[in-house]
Amino acid sequence: MARVFVTRRLPGSALDRLSAEHEVEVWPDQLPPGREELLARSRELEGLLSLLTDPVDAELMDAAPALRAISNYAVGTDNVDLDAASERGITVGNTPDVLTESTADLALALILGVSRRLVEGDAYVRRGDWRTWEPELLLGRDLHGATVGIVGQGRIGQAVGRRLEGFGCELLYTDLGVGVSLEELLDRSDFVTLHCPLTSDTRGLIDDEALRRMKPTAYLVNTARGPVVDGEALARALHAGEIAGAALDVTDPEPLPGGHPLLEAPGLLVLPHIASATHATRERMADMAVENLLAGLAGEPMPNQAN
Ligand code: DGY
Repeated sequence: MARVFVTRRLPGSALDRLSAEHEVEVWPDQLPPGREELLARSRELEGLLSLLTDPVDAELMDAAPALRAISNYAVGTDNVDLDAASERGITVGNTPDVLTESTADLALALILGVSRRLVEGDAYVRRGDWRTWEPELLLGRDLHGATVGIVGQGRIGQAVGRRLEGFGCELLYTDLGVGVSLEELLDRSDFVTLHCPLTSDTRGLIDDEALRRMKPTAYLVNTARGPVVDGEALARALHAGEIAGAALDVTDPEPLPGGHPLLEAPGLLVLPHIASATHATRERMADMAVENLLAGLAGEPMPNQAN
């Protein structure tokens, strides 16, 4: 029996399977455990089931000499120092594939939501402002026939592309030298949708310069990671009318603090990082995270190992 810490409750019954084999503590709060709570458990810890909100770095690993398996409840692993884990012989798992289609669905919802002004329309009706059908009320932009630039041609980017084919869109891809250049994609796209991992190359990829390249009628959609977009630059571009709007499932930081310039920006639709948030997908992610951890603790290769 290994000592395992799980940094949040998970949907479904996966944690019961973990508890059947190991001594498991599950952090009970809605907010993540603080640094001190994590470090306090480290000395004894053999397995860690972390979330994308938990920074798992070299300091934490050094404080946990018995740690041998980390399972991240996310496909993204930017919160885990993979090199530090590998150097210490710690295996790290993640949850690819299972959330691809749900994330792609939400990207489409954001594309349509921001360009057809769904949130504005809903608020307009609820405020009691709607008096009659009007020819120029809440005009938006068509998705059908639009040119959509997809940044990142991995599983999720391709799943978004498949959906957009059904809308008769022209698709442009860019991914690490494959497809068109980022500059061409920004120049030509009516929608730019981000599906790349957060790395040192993609941090701040959509900055002032990138936003200035986009058409003033274009929309930016981010379901990848917040820091891929420079939030202050985006707020400025929205205020200046350099782009038509933006829809973000992810921000930097998460959540945005009150008074952040993005929260006042026109044409912004923002969600609390829910692209994978369906009952089925989040339960499958829990199953996968637990399978990874059980394998790692048994000294076996994880079914989905990230390092
Ligand atoms: C991930 O898995 O990386 C998503 O951001 C959350 O499901």
